[in-house]
Amino acid sequence: MITKQQVLDWLRKSSDVLEENRQYLTKLDTAIGDADHGNNMYRGFNKVKSQLDDHADKDIGAILKAVAMTLISTVGGASGPLYGTFFLQAGTKMAGKAELDGDSLAVMFRAGVDGVKMRGKAQPGDKTMIDVLEPVAQAIENDIKEGKSVSDTLHHAVEVAEKGVADTIPLIAKKGRASYLGERSKDHQDPGATSSMMIIKALSESVG
Ligand SMILES: Nc1ncnc2c1ncn2[C@@H]1O[C@H](COP(=O)(O)OP(=O)(O)OP(=O)(O)O)[C@@H](O)[C@H]1O
Ligand SMILES: [Mg+2]
Repeated sequence: MITKQQVLDWLRKSSDVLEENRQYLTKLDTAIGDADHGNNMYRGFNKVKSQLDDHADKDIGAILKAVAMTLISTVGGASGPLYGTFFLQAGTKMAGKAELDGDSLAVMFRAGVDGVKMRGKAQPGDKTMIDVLEPVAQAIENDIKEGKSVSDTLHHAVEVAEKGVADTIPLIAKKGRASYLGERSKDHQDPGATSSMMIIKALSESVG
């Protein structure tokens, strides 16, 4: 089971790791974007962190929806609405829940990822956060179906996410500003895929 406390810990850890990697993410976005991804993620998740104490009486679904609203309202650019959609769809599916079992985790992640795909129209191979999020959603669904524990499932999800990040390097970007570079977007790691991996790692670390 993932407790509400672990969900709050996940959000705090996400905020911390995105803050630590603010310059790194911006450096990745300097190569193929407009050098703002680190700042965007920092601004959004720092605000999320400042609001964590307000969530004491909320269920997990309501917490995730509140995160969505904060990200949508504080993060400019493409990634704010995309991550906002992830948390909004995930939160909608988790309405009323005080804890999450493996099936809930799989449903939550799938809903979030499908929301991002619907909103941004990216598919795997387009060199975006979807190159991490989609294989992770699939791995979580498969692992839970096979009876793996939540903890083992999330450890595996981190490996899948890290591979997804590395797999973006040779790709030609098909979405967002990076796509304007065409062939020149090759040989660079996608910033959004990288931040997605960090958020998944934070979830795994919070659950243990
Ligand atoms: N249509 C999309 N679907 C999914 N992810 C996307 C899409 N467009 C961009 N991204 C992700 O957003 C990241 C860039 O986020 P950032 O915070 O820098 O916003 P941005 O500068 O407005 O984005 P962009 O320059 O890509 O338009 C990319 O690295 C990519 O992973
Ligand atoms: Mg950018």
